[in-house]
Amino acid sequence: MSLVFLNGNYLELKDAQINVLDRGFTFADAVYEVIPVFNGCIFRMEEHMQRLDNSLAEIYMDNPLSVEQWLSIFNKLIESVAVPNQSIYLQVTRGVTDRDHDIDLATEQTVFVMSRPLQNKQESDGIKAITHEDIRWSCCQIKATTLLASVLLRHRAKQRGAKEAILVRDGHITEGAASNVFLVKDNVVLTPPKNNEVLPGITRDLIVELLASGNIDFSVEMLPEKLLSVADEIWVTSSTWEIMPVIELDNVMIGDGTPGPVWQQLQQLYQDYKKNYCQ
Ligand code: PDD
Repeated sequence: MSLVFLNGNYLELKDAQINVLDRGFTFADAVYEVIPVFNGCIFRMEEHMQRLDNSLAEIYMDNPLSVEQWLSIFNKLIESVAVPNQSIYLQVTRGVTDRDHDIDLATEQTVFVMSRPLQNKQESDGIKAITHEDIRWSCCQIKATTLLASVLLRHRAKQRGAKEAILVRDGHITEGAASNVFLVKDNVVLTPPKNNEVLPGITRDLIVELLASGNIDFSVEMLPEKLLSVADEIWVTSSTWEIMPVIELDNVMIGDGTPGPVWQQLQQLYQDYKKNYCQ
């Protein structure tokens, strides 16, 4: 039977209930992580734990659990879900207080963890995307559950027959609504730098490592919006999508409308890395 973890207890999802005054509910005063599991192996856990610590520190919270405690929870949930590829979702909220902005009222954090089967997207032919003004706040480096802007952006993409919105702020590309962005122009791979406009994606960082070790030309730099219309390839990346080619942007085909050659190369390096990592 598939279990979830809530505040020290392992439960069926239907029995996991929180107080309506939880600050995660009233203020979205919470951070989260999404960690992929490939073939039963937790992928890049150390990096996800580091990012969780960074997000918590940014919002003046301590990590309520040790790495060993997180690992023991993950392993128990993975075992209960019992499929090889999963995606772990964890959320830490500031806990239950009166509805008052003052964070000093909080005494006990809420910790929720679940794991769900991950669809294998490896064979994907790519997705359609739209471009959209980046309407989010200016603390995008925090993996906060405050995701209303991202929800609206994904909805606007869907309304236009697309799966993702590639975001533009002051004329430069930031990231996707729930992914990081890579472009290929004249065989050079380009991605924006990590700053307060971008979530430091674990998949993004791995791709940058793979580009460096694979001797593929790349550059981390501010990317003007106009590059989108001349890019040879565009990819969006995340723990659940891995490296997803964008084959159409704003109803215009990218390249010949199929995943490009540099994507094929990176995909191979990424899948090889995964295989070795999990052995
Ligand atoms: N989202 N940028 C944003 C805004 C994201 O929400 C995500 C991931 C990423 C990619 O990060 P990573 O490679 O660490 O998954 C970039 C997750 C999957 C989500 O919210 O479900």
